[in-house]
Amino acid sequence: MLNDVQQRIAEIAMTTFITDKDFNEIKDIMYQQTGVFLKPSKKNLVIARLRTRLRELDCPNFKSYLEFFKKKDAAELEILINAITTNETFFFRHPKQFNFLSDYVLPEIIEKKKILPRREIRVWSAACSTGEEPYSLAVACEEFFKKHPAYQYTVFASDINSAVLAEAQKGMFPERSFRETPSGIQQRYFKRVEIIDGRRRKEMMKFTSDIKDNIVFIQNNLLHPFPFKNIDIVFLRNALIYFNEESKQKVINNIENVIVPKGYLFLGLSETLFDVKSTFEILQTGTYLKQD
Ligand SMILES: C[S@@+](CC[C@H](N)C(=O)[O-])C[C@H]1O[C@@H](n2cnc3c(N)ncnc32)[C@H](O)[C@@H]1O
Repeated sequence: MLNDVQQRIAEIAMTTFITDKDFNEIKDIMYQQTGVFLKPSKKNLVIARLRTRLRELDCPNFKSYLEFFKKKDAAELEILINAITTNETFFFRHPKQFNFLSDYVLPEIIEKKKILPRREIRVWSAACSTGEEPYSLAVACEEFFKKHPAYQYTVFASDINSAVLAEAQKGMFPERSFRETPSGIQQRYFKRVEIIDGRRRKEMMKFTSDIKDNIVFIQNNLLHPFPFKNIDIVFLRNALIYFNEESKQKVINNIENVIVPKGYLFLGLSETLFDVKSTFEILQTGTYLKQD
């Protein structure tokens, strides 16, 4: 007979191990549902991200979690996706891309649009995580369009992960999210507030500008068609690294369906479109232009 301590150690050991069969099942679910491709090297990530869920459910191992999962509805799928997707982000990540946006892309787009009746610029943060990217885009657009008041802008912010999207909508950010933020932005657009998190008090930065109304938040799976069209600029950064060639192709096709001819696509600096078929032409590392 095991005593309580031995029992607990045995339980922890079970939830720190996953068989190839169970890992492959989770890998297949993630791939089919999100396009995210979990290589065998991601076993430890799967264990670390799901361990708390197994404990909450009193599942002694991944086999029993998968049995539970198969009996459950879409709610458990959402919990699984939210746990496994990687959501690292911060404001003005890859600052050179934001400089390129303000100094070259936005001026070029308004020059083309000045003869057109539609004077709205649409920007889409397509894997927006907790919101640092779409708020950075809204700030960059605001700083530019306040000098060009004839134009309006909308920033669409979407992600598959419902938990990070809910965080994004709150507009409350930890100090570490500002590590690359240009000076003055934090003071102009944010206010320091104290919140209670469980039993702890913590300081957060709250986005206080009414330009938040220009951001449209929507849950969206990149494998599915996006419901808004005529997008001028897409930021799809640091998401395609988690996809394989096949799922990446589907994502890019969906983006091609909603971006305007000569629209701009920004990827993460380690991401490329070399392995997919597309009408995007590379301009510089991480920046693509849609051909007609
Ligand atoms: C590392 S974050 C990137 C955040 C931000 N774009 C940046 O560069 O800082 C990757 C995001 O992709 C999202 N994601 C993964 N698969 C997705 C899918 N099929 N559809 C939409 N979003 C997805 C994740 O939920 C995660 O928030």
